[in-house]
Amino acid sequence: MRSIEINIQDAVYFADNQYVSLEAPTTAAMNTLEQGTGAGADFLGWVKLPSETPQSLLDSIRKTAARLRQNCEYVVCVGIGGSYLGAKAVNYALSGLFDDFYGPKPNEPKVLYAGQNISEEYTAELEHLLTGKTFGIIVISKSGTTTEPAIAFRILKELLEKQAGKEKAKDLIVAVTDAKKGALRTLADKEGYETYVIPDNVGGRFSVLTPVGLLPIACAGFDIDKLIAGAREMEETTRRQGPGNPAETYARMRNALYQAGKKIEILVNFNPKLHYFAEWWKQLYGESEGKDGKGIFPTSVDFTTDLHSMGQWIQEGERTIFETVLSVKEPAITRRIPEDAENLDGINYISGKRIDEVNKMAELGTKMAHVDGGVPNIHITIDKLDEHALGQLIYFFEKACGISGYLLGVNPFNQPGVEAYKKNMFALLEKPGYEEATAKIKSRL
Ligand code: PA5
Repeated sequence: MRSIEINIQDAVYFADNQYVSLEAPTTAAMNTLEQGTGAGADFLGWVKLPSETPQSLLDSIRKTAARLRQNCEYVVCVGIGGSYLGAKAVNYALSGLFDDFYGPKPNEPKVLYAGQNISEEYTAELEHLLTGKTFGIIVISKSGTTTEPAIAFRILKELLEKQAGKEKAKDLIVAVTDAKKGALRTLADKEGYETYVIPDNVGGRFSVLTPVGLLPIACAGFDIDKLIAGAREMEETTRRQGPGNPAETYARMRNALYQAGKKIEILVNFNPKLHYFAEWWKQLYGESEGKDGKGIFPTSVDFTTDLHSMGQWIQEGERTIFETVLSVKEPAITRRIPEDAENLDGINYISGKRIDEVNKMAELGTKMAHVDGGVPNIHITIDKLDEHALGQLIYFFEKACGISGYLLGVNPFNQPGVEAYKKNMFALLEKPGYEEATAKIKSRL
């Protein structure tokens, strides 16, 4: 069984005492999570999701994806936050970095994303791309009431119906939403769209292993069975108590560092394919832990790219940061650096080496420099970037997040702070029902 490796030897001595003293509280936090006795226990459906996902659901998702793949040049996933980040993370990690420039092939639609911003340019330029093309829409919203995807869906649905006709459009739209409530459920039922349900007890940022993530991932042509198999293995691994449980180690170490004054965690990769995985991770930890005046601030960098922009700060700025490096042992492709007779660029000393060998030395050299500079380093390694490893990583980070949130003393499964901007936006837009708030906010302008 392949598994992820976690190495904390370059972190633990920065917070030795805290790490030792957190052993018992971490075990208690794990028990709270496993037994469902903590805050937000109504949202623990993700804990056993991999092992309890029926094969029939995976088969059904694969069938729906095959229909969209056969009939579309583009499939647009409409959603925001937890309703798009997981799918984007997996699809981006598994796709070729330049795939979009090759254009769609028969039965291999391009998966695009919408409803994750309110940019007029983004929406209009996407509409322009899709004009005259065959496309399908997967509209995803747990609440079914989120403004960003609602705007995008309204526009894309109109375009699709205009191009394909209302009847055919129905076959090309799939809704992923709550079983009973929300505007999207009402609309999907009225229009007769195929739907998938987001379980009540799974919050948005923990939903990538539900149809929220699985359908767009299957549409992109990736193997959701392998993704779930990886997650299942990690569910098993992280159920064990104490040492050997990587989720325990990670949750405990990052809280020890937090207690030792390291308030910012930087998720580092040396492989650009992990860029959006970091975006998913940021939501998971940011929304779960940043509350009650507490929480590690999660941020991310792509190295070596960002060593040339953020490297100075990380090496010598305020010592309140730590790094968690997500490392891939073996790239999928071999490419060596050629010899050049003139050697004007002076890099013949590395000719014949694999590019990855240089990258790995950059990784090691960076770690040593940053640790010497006072930046603790947690190192997480996967063998290769595939569905199985991503399934493991997703579940690992989710499990560690639940433990970590309880250790921090917050409810990791709510997000009350997300409502503040919405209330102001609705008041400013004079949404019916917000009259008092509108008057109040306008008096401040
Ligand atoms: O994690 C969360 O709950 C949020 O980020 C949501 O995923 C996001 O706001 C989108 O919500 P919805 O799926 O209800 O449209």
